[in-house]
Amino acid sequence: MEVNGTAYRSIWLSNDGWAAKIIDQTKLPHLFEIVRLETLEQAAIAIEIMQVRGAPLIGATAAYGIALALKSGVPLSQAEKRLRTTRPTAINLHWAIDLALSELSSLSGEDQITRAYQVAAKICDDDVETNRSIGEHGLSLIEDIASAKKAGPVNILTHCNAGWIATVDYGTALSPIYQAFDKGIDVHVWVDETRPRNQGAALTAWELSQHGVPHTIVCDNTGGHLMQHGMVDICITGTDRTAANGDVANKIGTYLKALAAKDNGVPFYVALPSTTIDWMIKDGVRDIPIELRDEHEVTHVEGRLADGRLAAVQVAASGSPAANYAFDVTPARLVSGLITERGICDASTDGLASLFPEKS
Ligand code: MRU
Repeated sequence: MEVNGTAYRSIWLSNDGWAAKIIDQTKLPHLFEIVRLETLEQAAIAIEIMQVRGAPLIGATAAYGIALALKSGVPLSQAEKRLRTTRPTAINLHWAIDLALSELSSLSGEDQITRAYQVAAKICDDDVETNRSIGEHGLSLIEDIASAKKAGPVNILTHCNAGWIATVDYGTALSPIYQAFDKGIDVHVWVDETRPRNQGAALTAWELSQHGVPHTIVCDNTGGHLMQHGMVDICITGTDRTAANGDVANKIGTYLKALAAKDNGVPFYVALPSTTIDWMIKDGVRDIPIELRDEHEVTHVEGRLADGRLAAVQVAASGSPAANYAFDVTPARLVSGLITERGICDASTDGLASLFPEKS
């Protein structure tokens, strides 16, 4: 997608052919800074401190992390160990590491390094195509609402950031929205701010602005009110891990939006590449690991001061403890459907099996 008229992916190989480049998402929307990753440790830290985030991009960065490790003589096993502990919920991390291990374990030396870069590049290229397909399938949902509506835009509510910078390109939840907008459909996006790290206010709103898509940022607790008053036609979110039964883990607060959607008869769809499905987990609510992050993210808010400097300010009473659960799990019964690269299916074991029979 474009930033100020220039096309970018969220991660790419440097012109020197070995370092990886990323957009530092901790600085957005205030500063657009590109960071060079040259070592395994830099890649791991970029994931941990969320310079890169979003399930598919975490996986792609891990793949480049392995290539960087091998290039500097760090053994594959050490790279695996370091990367696996960076963030626990997004399954794409493990999917990408497993894929790299299966391709690289039997190789050594220059062959292993060369192949590692090829694997990382393919993960990125495949993610772009996958997300484009998700957009095409999800577009039909927006088109149907647009043709049934007598007046006004199709109002779509989204939570967190599941746009192009959460993936390698196009995004998951935002991909159908970009396609609808590009087709001339009148769309408007309600952007949940997404405390504590404000991925909605900082990242989704920035992405949508760059593309010219009409949107409005709302506080996280606003969605229920909007839905009660007919101001949301459809919710579309992403997911960090989808269980085989259709339960979906996504940014904390997603579950409450799904409950409000159910109560108000608003369709609630989740968009995902199949790399986000954890076929081993049969009960997502019970078994998907939920990341617990530093309480500082809750007690403090980061932003830009009037003089332009980026800073964190304290919003909580000193000494009060805080709990920072980064994700929650929305049970499949609250999900109207899963939008995947192969089409839309029920959020259920049978639904997923109908699209991915080779996995069942
Ligand atoms: O903590 P984050 O910012 O990595 O969380 C990201 C999300 O929750 C996204 O919705 C999810 O990864 C899907 S991204 C296509």
